Amino acid sequence: MSLFIGLMSGTSADGMDAALVRFETGKAPELIHACGLAYEQAFSQQLRQLAITTEASVEELALLDRKIAKLSVKAIRQLLAEANVDASAVSAIGSHGHTLRHKALRSRRLADGFSWQVGDPSWIAEHTGICCIADFRRRDIAAGGQGAPLVPAFHQACLGASDAPRMVLNIGGIANLTVLGEHLSGFDCGPGNALMDEWCCLQWQESQDSNGERAAKGKVIPELLTRWQSEGEIFSYLQQPPPKSTGRELFNLQALGDQLDGYDAHDVLASLSQYTADTIADAVKRFGHSAGEILVCGGGVHNPDLMQRIQTALPNHQIRSTASAGIHPDWLEAMAFAWLAHQTLNHLPGNAPQVTGADGLRILGGIYPA
Ligand SMILES: Nc1ncnc2c1ncn2[C@@H]1O[C@H](COP(=O)(O)OP(=O)(O)O)[C@@H](O)[C@H]1O
Ligand SMILES: [Mg+2]
Repeated sequence: MSLFIGLMSGTSADGMDAALVRFETGKAPELIHACGLAYEQAFSQQLRQLAITTEASVEELALLDRKIAKLSVKAIRQLLAEANVDASAVSAIGSHGHTLRHKALRSRRLADGFSWQVGDPSWIAEHTGICCIADFRRRDIAAGGQGAPLVPAFHQACLGASDAPRMVLNIGGIANLTVLGEHLSGFDCGPGNALMDEWCCLQWQESQDSNGERAAKGKVIPELLTRWQSEGEIFSYLQQPPPKSTGRELFNLQALGDQLDGYDAHDVLASLSQYTADTIADAVKRFGHSAGEILVCGGGVHNPDLMQRIQTALPNHQIRSTASAGIHPDWLEAMAFAWLAHQTLNHLPGNAPQVTGADGLRILGGIYPA
């Protein structure tokens, strides 16, 4: 039996998730405890802005690297205190860090893809006394892959044993879909909560549309959907077959076109919710199973307006939370990074090359001993 911690700071920039996971040979990984450290709104905004700006200074980024590391340490201390577990009982931390930039590989010849996460693992190891494993994406990229998504291999390990066709949909800032089964695939579908969050922040200085209440008050504006669906670079991303990955760099309101003045704010939000649901449904129809179960995790599962729109767009699928398969939807991604650390420490690969497009299986991450 061994204990690992997984840490995740997702594209929503809403906070740091920490999960304490028990691994036992022959058994599925078991969540012992989890907690979320919410970021202050100004810090969330700084992170979201950094995802699209080209004007950050080196010093700002270096300080951010430290700040994410400090918040990681805080989240780990809270997690261990709440679980009443001593740091010495934990084998390693798998830390995703926070993505500053993810640029998907376009040309293997030019090797033009990169992915950059911050949250100094040396600092985390030093201040927790626990071995920290980090920088999971770059080895896959070095081997010709997208470096993302990395969670499908974990989804397959945890949720792959089903006779019926099954998919896992993670609705974070960006949405990603894993198609489980003999031919495992997984890719970023497009926006998750990112566009809706951005609009809520602009209109009402709120970080999210809590429980989808504002979107439910609005009416979808068909001309906006038509306009967004034909947006050049976004259109070609949505059409492109996997392997593929994306980020806020592509899916933000500015990229969709800025002419939203003059529309009712709730109607725009309803339209963004519909657009998000449509891009997810389209990805399922194009690249997923034609029927079966879709297990949903990530913050989007708490937005009934969005969930209803996805279900309406996919009448042949049963859409339900991963909780129905025994895994809490809020902590699945953090659990995945505990699993990745467990793989690395046991000299086992963490990537699924058929998902990322890498040349083969690779042991991921750098190990920073306690
Ligand atoms: N009760 C809720 N109602 C509506 N949206 C929610 C709710 N809870 C969380 N969310 C959405 O989920 C997002 C966080 O999801 P998360 O899975 O943490 O994404 P990421 O991995 O990108 O950080 C929030 O920014 C918000 O948009
Ligand atoms: Mg999050």
